[in-house]
Amino acid sequence: MPNSVFEPSTLAGIRLKNRLIRSATHESMADERGAPTELLEKLYIGLAKGGAGAIITGYAGVRQDGKSSLPGMLMVDNDGLIPVYRRLTAKVHEHNAPIILQIAHCGRQTRSAVTGLPTVAPSAVKDKIFNEETPHELGEKDIETIINSFVSAADRAKTAGFDGIQLHLAHGYLLAQFLSGYTNRREDKWGGSTVNKFRIVSEIMQRIREKLGDYPVLVKMNAYDNRPGGMRAREAVEIARLLEFSGCNAIEVSSGTVEEGLSIMRGSKQPVEALLACNFRFKDMPPPLKMISAPFIRFAMRSPQPIRGYNLEAAKAIKQAVSIPVITVGSLHDMTDISSAIESGSTDYISMSRPFIIEPDIVRKFQDGKQTASRCIMCNYCALMIEVDRVRCYYGKLPKKK
Ligand SMILES: Cc1cc2nc3c(=O)[nH]c(=O)nc-3n(C[C@H](O)[C@H](O)[C@H](O)COP(=O)(O)O)c2cc1C
Repeated sequence: MPNSVFEPSTLAGIRLKNRLIRSATHESMADERGAPTELLEKLYIGLAKGGAGAIITGYAGVRQDGKSSLPGMLMVDNDGLIPVYRRLTAKVHEHNAPIILQIAHCGRQTRSAVTGLPTVAPSAVKDKIFNEETPHELGEKDIETIINSFVSAADRAKTAGFDGIQLHLAHGYLLAQFLSGYTNRREDKWGGSTVNKFRIVSEIMQRIREKLGDYPVLVKMNAYDNRPGGMRAREAVEIARLLEFSGCNAIEVSSGTVEEGLSIMRGSKQPVEALLACNFRFKDMPPPLKMISAPFIRFAMRSPQPIRGYNLEAAKAIKQAVSIPVITVGSLHDMTDISSAIESGSTDYISMSRPFIIEPDIVRKFQDGKQTASRCIMCNYCALMIEVDRVRCYYGKLPKKK
């Protein structure tokens, strides 16, 4: 019997009422400490009430040097934050939805000008978007500390009542930097072969299992990036097998890095106006310079093809190689695409980000048959404007300046 979208199921030991998950989405709504605010609490309650099968939070930082350069990032780097997270999970659970904390270290995809700390990476390879400076190559002792920071963060998540955690191995953040040959040029036991590049994840998994038993651990991983010498679908399959072997409970399949432009979240038009309005490099430029820059930005921000369902083929290959559940993200915004992906067995679950920004109750609308597709136009203004404001839908238009 093929799986169906609105049938309850168990994912990583967590009971889900349907197969539609809110994928991690940075909301820019945490306070200065990195604690969720009341506004963020309301957003998650809205998602729970709106029928999401499970909610994966925006990425939460495990260490200060791995904090995002975007404002309002959640942090989970100290025990003082546990009580406020506990309150959040309790509120979400009142509305019958599981909530999973995504934990991350940004590595080279942040700016020391914002964090106040040197940026770090597996190798000293500069990021074209983020780094005005070359990141510091991590030493043996630093890697050890980072592994333990992920384990402590998972421990805090469990204590705070999260139903599970998701390790962020995608989109070019630190753990993805280790996995991709483009950013990992190391010749020691942390680089070179796939097993060596995976070692940091394997250590995190092993120590989480030792400390937290069978607590649900999901990952979001890149099936490919388009960087020279980087991740490709074949190696991703191998990594998925290693993940299963290491005790990971479920894999969400994504792709791309921030450096690639709009590859992670695709669209048919380039949001040049939004970038010029919010990005740290451009926002304070004189208007004539902005005009001159626009065509170059338009070129750099082209999304690769296809625009829809672009991770599905890679997810299918991963699903065939592992027996743990697979979740697929990436412009799967339409019930026809969603049902066919699940019913054909290409993926076990679908996750979405942008559709929940424009309509937090999209799952209920789908289930009630009120709508068959998201209203999201994939303008990607939401993804860029979080550099200066809280996440919201702009529907391809910036508000007029007062
Ligand atoms: C505003 C915004 C913030 C995002 N923040 C995160 C994040 O914190 N962690 C993450 O793994 N992905 C993040 N993503 C990527 C999404 O989870 C998702 O992989 C991508 O948008 C493609 O899915 P979609 O077509 O359903 O939007 C973000 C996307 C958007 C638009």
